[in-house]
Amino acid sequence: MKYANAKKFPDNFLWGASTSAYQVEGGAGQDGKGPSVIDIKRIPEGTTDYKVASDHYNRYKEDVALFAEMGFKTYRFSIAWSRIFPNGTGEVNQQGIEFYNNLINELLKYDIEPLVTMYHFDLPLSLHEKGGWGNRETVDAFETYAKTLFEYYGDRVKYWLTINEQNMMILHGSAILGSDVSKKELYQQNHHMLLAQAKAMVLCHNMLPNAKIGPAPNISYIYPASSKPEDMLAANNFNAIRNWLYLDMAVYGRYNHVAWSYMEEHGYTPTILDGDMEMLRNAKPDFIAFNYYTSKTVAESKGDGQDVNNTGDQEIVIGEAGVYKGHTNENLPKTEFGWEIDPVGFRITFREIYSRYNLPLIVTENGLGAFDRLEEDGTVRDTYRIEYLRKHIEQIQLAISDGVEVFGYCPWAAIDLVSTHQGSKKRYGFIFVNRDEFDLKDMKRIRKESFYWYKKVIETNGDDL
Ligand code: BG6
Repeated sequence: MKYANAKKFPDNFLWGASTSAYQVEGGAGQDGKGPSVIDIKRIPEGTTDYKVASDHYNRYKEDVALFAEMGFKTYRFSIAWSRIFPNGTGEVNQQGIEFYNNLINELLKYDIEPLVTMYHFDLPLSLHEKGGWGNRETVDAFETYAKTLFEYYGDRVKYWLTINEQNMMILHGSAILGSDVSKKELYQQNHHMLLAQAKAMVLCHNMLPNAKIGPAPNISYIYPASSKPEDMLAANNFNAIRNWLYLDMAVYGRYNHVAWSYMEEHGYTPTILDGDMEMLRNAKPDFIAFNYYTSKTVAESKGDGQDVNNTGDQEIVIGEAGVYKGHTNENLPKTEFGWEIDPVGFRITFREIYSRYNLPLIVTENGLGAFDRLEEDGTVRDTYRIEYLRKHIEQIQLAISDGVEVFGYCPWAAIDLVSTHQGSKKRYGFIFVNRDEFDLKDMKRIRKESFYWYKKVIETNGDDL
């Protein structure tokens, strides 16, 4: 559907951008920070990627000033659990508390609304060593951590996100966290994370009646490779397993029936204790945050041994025998890293989420990873990024015109940071950080062309794209 008069972005629309602690902060071990699973993640030999990252831990004031210059209304960042609790639980590290206090205050100084992710892939190592999410004690540790965050920061933080991309940790656990556990075990971990999320939502509403909290999965609509009913069914399967399993639970407190049947069929169903389902049913989010990079396309999998399990990165579907098979969508261009680009799929994803759940939506990641180049004249001409973002923002406006309630947009990323899969050579930011994988150089911050473009987008509330 085309609109002669597309609706405008709402006046108080939260324009901003995102980062996550382990990808941007650096400061490994600084001021009492404990190690997390990221510190044992496989990264290319010799790189200092996660140890220093963009050194935001030490340069946050300079970075926040640049965010303010772009006109951010919000900034989405994550708190490193092991800065607050170096051992995941037990004693609070006051220096860690202090860092986020300072960051939050610095943002508020410029009227930038903090949007806080409580957990973005970086589980404290000591919890991991005790079984991680497979151990129910991690659920209690998360509840204590959540309570601590609400106590210290709840007076200033109004928007909370529970767990970043839980669905990707389950579907691509080995790629993201380097963990090689069985699917049965993964779905048990999943159940525990869902419980942890539910507990945090209930706690937030009890402790902070004026705050809002929601989940932050990676949601993208799944297309069938053709109009063949079997392909459609495969798309339906993957939509349930990848997307709706997570949102049905967060919003309605129930296991999606197709996803549950899939788990039963494969012997993946988790152990559910008395009281679990009640806890899940009682927790309600105030909004849904989601990350979107591209749509996905799948075909029927005949289960004849041709299909392999998902081991690739999160935006490239491989498949699962007998359930669905990854398919290249020939209609879509690809990024330098092989991810398909589908702005219209963004609008479709908005429509689907909103009609299933009827909650306000905010985008917490969307963006283009590329090999940006710092020119001799000191500029970074990332016109390809501007084009990607422009096309996606146009689709948000169309989704708003379709009647979808969207209250914010936070592309990935506010500033260059270390990519989860390809290290610091894959850049996403509006601000260039002068370092590479092996050489930290001067870490100077340089405004990219997209920086000036996004500033204008925000200034005109999306009128001038
Ligand atoms: C999302 C994650 O999966 O995608 C981010 O939440 C990640 O942490 C982003 O960086 C982009 O993926 P990648 O692999 O290109 O860094």
